Amino acid sequence: MSTDATEPRTDTEPKSVPGRAQLSPPVAVRIPGQKPTVVWMTGPSGAGKSTIAAVLARDLRDYGCAVGLVDGDDLRADLCHDLGFSDASRDENVRRAAAVAQLMARAGLIVIVTLISPLRESRARARGRFAPGEFFETYVDTPLALAEQRDPKGLYRRARRGELQQFTGIDSPYEPPLAPEITLATATRTPAQCARIALNALVLAGRLPCLEQLLQQLRGSGERRSRNDRVA
Ligand SMILES: Nc1ncnc2c1ncn2[C@@H]1O[C@H](COP(=O)(O)OP(=O)(O)OP(=O)(O)O)[C@@H](O)[C@H]1O
Ligand SMILES: [Mg+2]
Repeated sequence: MSTDATEPRTDTEPKSVPGRAQLSPPVAVRIPGQKPTVVWMTGPSGAGKSTIAAVLARDLRDYGCAVGLVDGDDLRADLCHDLGFSDASRDENVRRAAAVAQLMARAGLIVIVTLISPLRESRARARGRFAPGEFFETYVDTPLALAEQRDPKGLYRRARRGELQQFTGIDSPYEPPLAPEITLATATRTPAQCARIALNALVLAGRLPCLEQLLQQLRGSGERRSRNDRVA
């Protein structure tokens, strides 16, 4: 049965492909100590998800990680361009983002997802795809009034003028997480401080490369190279 693109699927289980396992086994990146992880940033528009994610991605790369980003704007421009903003469409948007994040995590990446993902139930279903400890619900905690004041894309202004309907925080609900793994209070902290809090949480949870192991590996490959140079 094919799925009408305008009619979001209601089944949430991945379809199996005959002749092969449901999902390919983990592949690609193997950095000692790095464990596949999803940092799922949720918060209303203008909360600071993309801004903090950009800093966190850079910090994680500097830390020696392989990182992937799944941003709501990129999804809306392409993979999810057929979806609107009803609760059902938003749920489908979250489902697709989670499916992409799952593939990226199985490739071994630390995946940062930045998506309003306003409904608790949708986020819980996203979490359900991952093993315990892999999914970090990250609440980008910004009072709506502050997000509206920032309004980096002018969307709140347009929503107030009635040009946009079903806008989160205005005429569409936002349900804050009840027990997020990470909370980033952006009213009192800079993006760099928020990124550092998230990175520290990942370090504490043992998700990131062990620097000592990495150094040993680099030293080992350096020694092998110089031995080979001498032989040559
Ligand atoms: N502490 C902070 N953390 C994050 N962003 C901040 C902070 N203080 C100010 N800002 C500003 O708030 C704005 C946040 O915009 P951003 O696009 O990151 O939000 P978003 O949550 O990704 O929204 P959307 O869901 O619409 O994509 C930026 O202009 C950023 O510079
Ligand atoms: Mg964004």
